[in-house]
Amino acid sequence: MADPFQDVDAAGAEFIRLFADSMDQRQSDPKMEKIVADYLARLTFEPSGLTIEVGAGAGAVTRRIAAFAHPTKVVGYEPSQGFVKEAQQRVTGLENLSFEAADGAALPLEDESVDNVVMHTVLSHVVAPSALINEGFRVLKPGGKLVICDVDFSKAALGSFPNDPLDICAKAFVSEFVTDAHIVAKLGPLTSAAGFSVEHFDITSRVITSKEQMLPWVTEATRLMAERGEIGKDLAEALVGEHDRRLRAGQLYGYQAIATYIASK
Ligand SMILES: C[S@@+](CC[C@H](N)C(=O)[O-])C[C@H]1O[C@@H](n2cnc3c(N)ncnc32)[C@H](O)[C@@H]1O
Repeated sequence: MADPFQDVDAAGAEFIRLFADSMDQRQSDPKMEKIVADYLARLTFEPSGLTIEVGAGAGAVTRRIAAFAHPTKVVGYEPSQGFVKEAQQRVTGLENLSFEAADGAALPLEDESVDNVVMHTVLSHVVAPSALINEGFRVLKPGGKLVICDVDFSKAALGSFPNDPLDICAKAFVSEFVTDAHIVAKLGPLTSAAGFSVEHFDITSRVITSKEQMLPWVTEATRLMAERGEIGKDLAEALVGEHDRRLRAGQLYGYQAIATYIASK
């Protein structure tokens, strides 16, 4: 199956609702709040400036950017009409924030018109990341910043022992819901080919032990395996039950490596 984040509207209303909530929940994790706050603190926001998020989804990160950067204008560009609708419904009291439908490879913006471009967990879901990075370079003013924050999905795990079946679910989720699990390793060559200079590159480890943040990794991976007839419904339910049991028992151990990469034009 192709990564559904490549064409979210085709994945349907249920997918949009599930992942709009899941991305809101992910961003409300204090670790994720700190990652976003740290990269925003490295940027400059002029009152009359423009900062954009490319691939804004339902706006979980865009709302944080707009609250931090106020009164700078912030626009979230997102190719999915369903996510744009969700994003617009989830905003309250941020008059400097708006959302528009647009592909990150063809932004409706003049050359050199933007101060900061943010791509937050987007490039791991696109087939041609260089097209988005080149477009970011085109719209940025000289000296403008590109922030890429992405999960190094090649390192993601949900295992507490060798051959842990929940870890197999996590690996299956990555192979079904991520386009390039190794994108973080490629950011240096991709951004320098576009003309950027790297300013900052760091990885933060995030453990998920007490929240349901990795539950969709198990429910979605097992649902697909069951739909294809690879496993039966009983095993799919048992694996979800095992996730819930570990969560209740304090035995859950999810791991993600989150990269923050900042480059200058
Ligand atoms: C995992 S979501 C992240 C959403 C949001 N940045 C967040 O962190 O809450 C990945 C997003 O990338 C978007 N996306 C996929 N292909 C894209 C493209 N070519 N241009 C811009 N965004 C794209 C998807 O529609 C989806 O909203």
